Amino acid sequence: MKRIVIFASGSGSNAENIIKHFKSSKIASVTHVLSNNEHAKVFDRCERLNVDASLFDKESFTKDDTVLTFLQVEADIIVLAGFLWRIPAKIVEAFPNKIINIHPALLPKYGGKGMYGMNVHKAVKENNETETGITIHYVNENYDEGAIIFQAKTALTNNDSPENIAEKIHTLEYEHFPKTIEEVILKNV
Ligand code: GAR
Repeated sequence: MKRIVIFASGSGSNAENIIKHFKSSKIASVTHVLSNNEHAKVFDRCERLNVDASLFDKESFTKDDTVLTFLQVEADIIVLAGFLWRIPAKIVEAFPNKIINIHPALLPKYGGKGMYGMNVHKAVKENNETETGITIHYVNENYDEGAIIFQAKTALTNNDSPENIAEKIHTLEYEHFPKTIEEVILKNV
């Protein structure tokens, strides 16, 4: 069984969806969730789903090797599900093609620093886009720049608010993220 470690900074609805998907899997399971935000709702979800979860700080992520060492012992694959910090080079190098992120837009559009969550959907709305979507990609040291693994689109109308757009994006994420993680594990891990 491959061990999936999820990083999440906020609500964690994708984390929950991935945890549930892999509960019945024969190839992998979510063994731990890590968060940089002590108030993250993802902690409540993990408690309810009986999955170990831990808080870490910037020091243990970027300056010393606490998080890296933990991952080297505990993780076969790392999944970023609404995680907002850049991954340090030493972690990227230790897990080549084994860190996957989901971005709530069609990269390379609407990517980069500051482009996360509702900020993305507001920008999509302001630009009157007729479609948006999700991008699942490998992670390198730059925000939202690693090789793309999968994209899916959804159509938008003038009536869609940023909140509607977020809902459409979450629907795509729940449908495609677990399956794509599974494909990456079967191919690479
Ligand atoms: C998701 O839509 C994810 O794509 C996005 O944050 C949301 C987290 O929702 N990620 C980013 O914007 C990363 N740049 P969740 O906490 O309910 O899974």
